[in-house]
Amino acid sequence: MSDTHQLVIVLDFGGQYNQLIARRVRECGVYCEVKSYKTPIEEIKALAPVGIIFTGGPNSVYKEDSPSCSKEIFELGIPILGICYGCQLMAHLLGGKVTTAITSEYGKTETHYDVSSAVFKGLPQQGISWMSHTDYIEKVPEGFKITAHTDCCPTAAMECPEKKLYAVQFHPEVNHTENGTAMLRGFLYNVCGCTGDWTMGGYAETAIKNIREKVGDGKVLLALSGGVDSSVAAALLSKAVGDKLTCIFVDHGFMRKNEGDEIEEAFSGWGLNFVRVNAKEQFMSKMRGVSDPETKRKIIGEEFIRVFEQEAKKIGKVDFLVQGTIYPDIIESGTGDAAVIKSHHNVGGLPDYVDFKEIIEPLRMLFKDEVRALGRELGLADVLVDRQPFPGPGLAIRIIGEITDEKLEILQDADYIFREEIAKAGLDKEIHQYFAVLTNMRSVGVMGDGRTYDYTLALRGVTTTDFMTADFAKIPYEVLAVCASRIVNEVKSVNRVVYDVTTKPPATIEWE
Ligand code: XMP
Repeated sequence: MSDTHQLVIVLDFGGQYNQLIARRVRECGVYCEVKSYKTPIEEIKALAPVGIIFTGGPNSVYKEDSPSCSKEIFELGIPILGICYGCQLMAHLLGGKVTTAITSEYGKTETHYDVSSAVFKGLPQQGISWMSHTDYIEKVPEGFKITAHTDCCPTAAMECPEKKLYAVQFHPEVNHTENGTAMLRGFLYNVCGCTGDWTMGGYAETAIKNIREKVGDGKVLLALSGGVDSSVAAALLSKAVGDKLTCIFVDHGFMRKNEGDEIEEAFSGWGLNFVRVNAKEQFMSKMRGVSDPETKRKIIGEEFIRVFEQEAKKIGKVDFLVQGTIYPDIIESGTGDAAVIKSHHNVGGLPDYVDFKEIIEPLRMLFKDEVRALGRELGLADVLVDRQPFPGPGLAIRIIGEITDEKLEILQDADYIFREEIAKAGLDKEIHQYFAVLTNMRSVGVMGDGRTYDYTLALRGVTTTDFMTADFAKIPYEVLAVCASRIVNEVKSVNRVVYDVTTKPPATIEWE
């Protein structure tokens, strides 16, 4: 990609915000990649970045085994911005003095800036920054000057413009830092000379051209789940290679109301071979008598592969298999010493079962919001581009206990009403995931003059940034009241609605 765009390298020293820094840089219209701090200097030179950003990290620079890099990097003439640990490392390697403070500086901190600095140019002289450090720079290296300070941190920022070296002790990438993104922009545009050449339109054009060249006359296969990533990958591939692409959409019957049709509809007229396998009966027959959540997941996963494989066999040998892997999957699989948080969950599984030559991962360098932007750029329907995360096993893990046709219908109808009311209330962008769960519990109610003994339905809505932790969404009572009233009136067999007010942890987002 760097052959067509300016490149900034985010050199990862193990900080928790490495991805966030990269996302912010991209938001500024500049392409960047996260690389391990161990990346050899020759490789960095060959990539010819217009700038380098050192991330934070949990270590102390003066410890023997702390992540470090060759001092040569400062001599390349490439602008460098050090953040937090990266700031201390720059000071340490260039002859400054880094010391441990008696107390850590943590959280929102009033900070004073020298606005003659290229990084802070045009910004207020004072503002809140987000600090998280115990070590601090007692003495800056020769040739450097201090460009920001706080009450307890003498060097909140430093720079040596002659050598194009800049550093901030705080975290400009987190939202708590006022004008943080503008500071990154200052570095990128005022120091590195970035031109903002990273746009989704440009990306789409280049990606389509590259895919076309690679695929030639080959056959391409894609497993379409209807999720954002596989949908955007399908849209991109179909623009690139048209009917050389076959998408297999295994409809296991556990999609939300009308969703299978919506997905099919969204791809009609795209010129690809779209195969929808209506496998509901097959899946339902396997689920009979099964109530354990893990067993449900396992059966659905295995059956999915079986159905996919059957369909794929009809096509015969394919040349390329498309995977919707996105950049966070790659970064989270570990770029360096940073702890591996999640295994690379989008890769694996299918390839073992299908005869193909090569994998294409057209989204592997994109963040989720960029994937959505690309989808919009390609003209993909909003229902797919804006889709909230949806578990692979679908509603099967939102029906507690054994799944029956009746329960599935109840849940689809109730979930539909909930989604409709959330959208009507204008909350659909604020709440990151929301859905209904059919509990396996019945309770007594009264309807007209009669006693009822029907299901309790639970509503769940969460706000989250990474789905690893989540808060319950504070949906106004009035909205919940309308949902409850509509659900008990319009959906048969539900006489009670509850709202889940647990955070994750200790609860999970899904109920199974
Ligand atoms: P939990 O319930 O673990 O969910 O807090 C976190 C996020 O992951 C989604 N999820 C799944 N996604 N297959 C998937 O593809 C699954 O089996 C699965 N289980 C949970 C969940 O919807 C939430 O966004």
